[in-house]
Amino acid sequence: MKKILCLAFSLFLGILFCIPRARALENGLALTPPMGWNSWNRFACNVSEDLVKSAADALVTSGMKDAGYEYVVIDDCWQVSRDAAGNIVVDPKNFPNGIKPLADYVHSKGLKFGIYSDAGTKTCAGRPGGRGHEYQDALQYAAWGVDYLKYDWCNTGTQNAPASYATMRDALKAAGRPIVFSLCEWGSNKPWLWARDVGNLWRTTGDISDCWDCKKDQLSWTQILDLQVGIESYAGPGHWNDPDMLEVGNGGMTAAEYRSHFSLWCMLAAPLMAGNDLAHMTPEILEILTNKEVIAVDQDPLGLEGRRVRKTGDSEVWAKQMKDGSRAVVLLNRGASDAEISVSWEDLGYPAHLSATVRGLWAHKDLGKFTSSFSTKVPSHGVAMLRVTP
Ligand code: GLA
Repeated sequence: MKKILCLAFSLFLGILFCIPRARALENGLALTPPMGWNSWNRFACNVSEDLVKSAADALVTSGMKDAGYEYVVIDDCWQVSRDAAGNIVVDPKNFPNGIKPLADYVHSKGLKFGIYSDAGTKTCAGRPGGRGHEYQDALQYAAWGVDYLKYDWCNTGTQNAPASYATMRDALKAAGRPIVFSLCEWGSNKPWLWARDVGNLWRTTGDISDCWDCKKDQLSWTQILDLQVGIESYAGPGHWNDPDMLEVGNGGMTAAEYRSHFSLWCMLAAPLMAGNDLAHMTPEILEILTNKEVIAVDQDPLGLEGRRVRKTGDSEVWAKQMKDGSRAVVLLNRGASDAEISVSWEDLGYPAHLSATVRGLWAHKDLGKFTSSFSTKVPSHGVAMLRVTP
């Protein structure tokens, strides 16, 4: 009896190991968090060929391209229906020349082109989704010259998230063009646990709103920040936690608050998708979006996500290990008045006796050499962003 049980068990194991493992993503893309612009946060459904062209122009003329912004992504509402053969039909009014010439235009600027669809029957704005058309759509995207696909999760009914996204991953692979695959299922199915082999980035929460003190049904960037605690170790080169696109410059917050939002997104090694009107931004907003020392924290090739190492009331210390052994540090003041915030070397994983250079990344200034800790006054809703190098 024992022998029979043993045989049955080894047969079971054999079958188990013969089943091909789920294929990995392995597209070699997004080795640092992707950077670019996406139409949704500012323009929602008001997208058009002219808008996308002017965003691409502005990325170049503003200097954002030089700062690393690369992908120009049209979000929802470029699509209206499917034809008799099931091909996706582009809105003829707002995109009179179709998508290919627009992608060519974006490419002619030295940028990359991205598009949006949904794993369900319809997108969140009620446009046709990709369900049942994955391979057909992937071929179409590749033929248009798409370099980035954001794939949403509306109208998915009882669909299984890992399986649905894996189908699109395989369709993109079969289409043969390198396409960054951005999963947007809002963290509902804990994508950090399974999406490493499926997508290059995955949304971790619901949609961001442009506010510090948000209404009840809205998520502020600070609430999203809190929801990143505990999932930091799932991010790395080629597979990133995505706390949603940037709201910097959309008008609902002060410059100091936008500086804080941008600093923390860089600490999270978040994808940096600007979501504002690039053709009409103030120099102050441009300066936030293009601070190269802050962006370098986000783009550090080690690809370790930063984490909160201390929280005392409204004062927080965030730290991110950098490839050269230094630490990026953010002192965040969530309170209504100025606060003195300090970071100790031990919070950063350094011995207290170490002498380290502290550089202010917003001021672009070396602040001196310090032993055991550094302390500074941080304005209400503001940050001090530092690089500490022993
Ligand atoms: C969802 C996504 C957003 C945006 C809209 C488009 O809400 O989370 O980022 O893509 O759909 O309809």
